[in-house]
This record gives sequence, C-alpha cells and structure tokens, in this order.
Amino acid sequence: MYKEKILNLLRSSHTAFLSGEELARKTGVSRTMVWKHIKSLERDGFGIEAMPSQGYRITFEPDVLRQNDIKQGLKTKVVGKEIHLFPEAASTNTLAMEMATQGAAEGAVVIAELQTSGRGRLGRKWISPKGNLYLSVILRPDIPMHKAPIITLMGAVAVTSAIRDLCNVPVAIKWPNDVLVASRKVSGLLTEMSAEQDRIRHLVLGIGVNVNMEQNSLPPDLRPLVTTLAAEAGTKINRTELLRQILRQLDCWYKTFLNNTADVLREWEKLNMTIGNRITVSGAGETLEGLAQAIDEEGRLVIMRDDGATRHVAAGDVTILKGARVM
Ligand code: BTN
Repeated sequence: MYKEKILNLLRSSHTAFLSGEELARKTGVSRTMVWKHIKSLERDGFGIEAMPSQGYRITFEPDVLRQNDIKQGLKTKVVGKEIHLFPEAASTNTLAMEMATQGAAEGAVVIAELQTSGRGRLGRKWISPKGNLYLSVILRPDIPMHKAPIITLMGAVAVTSAIRDLCNVPVAIKWPNDVLVASRKVSGLLTEMSAEQDRIRHLVLGIGVNVNMEQNSLPPDLRPLVTTLAAEAGTKINRTELLRQILRQLDCWYKTFLNNTADVLREWEKLNMTIGNRITVSGAGETLEGLAQAIDEEGRLVIMRDDGATRHVAAGDVTILKGARVM
C-alpha cells in the first residue's frame, strides 16, 4: 500500500524530483522505508533516478501489468471485482475454469503476462508471448443453454468497442468472434462452459488481444494472418488502459446481455464485417459458399446459397471472398 502511494506520488510529479522527506511526510512512513520501497520499485523494473539533495523521479515505466494500476478508476459492478494476476499461466481459461469450480465469484478475472499452452477455437493453439493481453472472465449467468454462444459475441462487441475507444485503428468483427484490423486478426475469444443437464454452472470467457508483441514471436505461417494493435496504430499501446477499458466494456455489455440479448446482437451487427459479403464458411467437414445474410437470435450465421436456400451455421471459419464489401 505504501509502495503504491509512493509510486502514485512519483508519477504525479512527472519529471520533477520529490525528496525522500516529502515522500515520507505524504505517505506517513520513515525515510528509510521510502528508500526500501524505491528499491522494491526498481526491482519491479521501474527506472528511478536518485539525486542527492533533490530526491527521486521516475525515468522509466516497465510495460508490466500491476494489480493496483488495473483497479485504479475501474469502477465496474461485476467484471473485475476480483483480479488474479500471474506472470505466467499454462492457460488463463484452464485456470479460471478451476477457480470457478472451486467457487470463485462471478466477474473474477484471471490475467497472465504470458501463456505456455494458450488455447484457441476449434482445438487450435493460441501463441501467447509477452506484450499482449490474456484474460479469462468467470461468469455465472442464469440463462437457457442455447443463449450461451451469445456470450462470445458479447465479448467480441466489448473488445472491439474498447479498441475503438482507445486505439485509432479500423477494427471490426468477423463472425463469430475474430476481431480484425486491416483483415488481420488482433483478438480472439474462447468461451468454455461447465453445465449439468440444461443448467449452466459457470462459463469462462477467454480473451487474447495482440497488443505490443514482436511480429517475429509468431511462427512465419501465421504472420500474414495476424497483426498487433501497436503495428496497426504505429505506436506502442498502454496495455493497462486497454485492459481496463475491456473490463469496463465487458461489465456494461454483460449487463445488457442479461437484460436483452437482442441488444447485444444488434451491436454485434453494427461492428461486424461479415454480413452482406460473399463468404465461405468451413467447419464440421464441409465448406459452404454463399451470401452472409444475418445472424439469428442464437448468434448463428445465416448463409444464403446460390440456389436461394438458407443455412444457419453454429461454428466454423469464415473467409470473406475477394471483391466483397469490407466495412
Ligand atoms: C481464437 O481461436 O480465436 C480464440 C483465442 C482465445 C485465446 C484466449 S487467450 C486467454 C484465454 N486463455 C486461453 O488459453 N485462450 C483464451
């Protein structure tokens, strides 16, 4: 707590020095304790210049997520009420599922700086080096099972909205929940569920966002398909601010989801780049081609084939065909 107070004081004095005496007076600890907290901040990766007779100032902020920074000004009702932050996890989804089974509260968020076995949709891996965001939110909605897929669409709406709020990039959703910039993926979502008969015990909404990672931390075959917000915006992104905004948007859209799922679907439609385009969708051993017409009330993609027949698809990979309309 005192360490955080000292950090906040140093941050708010920007480039001006703050004396050990002043820091001690404002925080109510001894100058020796101030010095110990300064050393601890240095161990956390902060650059702190100490000038005899002038005091201390921050010269470098590490790109590290910190519990207190995330919580500062968050003001959410459900999502992020509890934050579990790890330097590393096999998969935040796996961890969150375990915590949910052990009774973790609704809205608890599990975050890791990197994942060693990140998981994607359709059994794929999610490459998870440092520099990005990896989080999983525990939810316990009292809803019929067929509404569960809309949670993932809700997550895509929240992530896309947060990116629009903070990064100056043309971001849109490709069905069902790929978040793209310039036709390349910046974020993906994976929802996992524990249920008994027709009752949902809990859901975990996992979100990966490619923020600041080096493009060469990806295998070469993925590089043309994947991008980062930093690369698209042309500047490093503040991960803490983005994470906070994602949590705020999730909190807001989860409330909307519980009140009226149609509102979530309407927003998804506004933010999507799939509907109205000619596409192929592959999954479950077949590939369909046609016009992406709409999403139905369960979030399935409605495709009109060339013979006029429509199909409702629940899962798959969409490719938007060349010459198609891109928003
Ligand atoms: C996709 O295939 O598009 C979904 C990717 C989901 C990745 C996130 S990262 C945080 C959470 N933990 C995981 O293991 N997966 C999800």
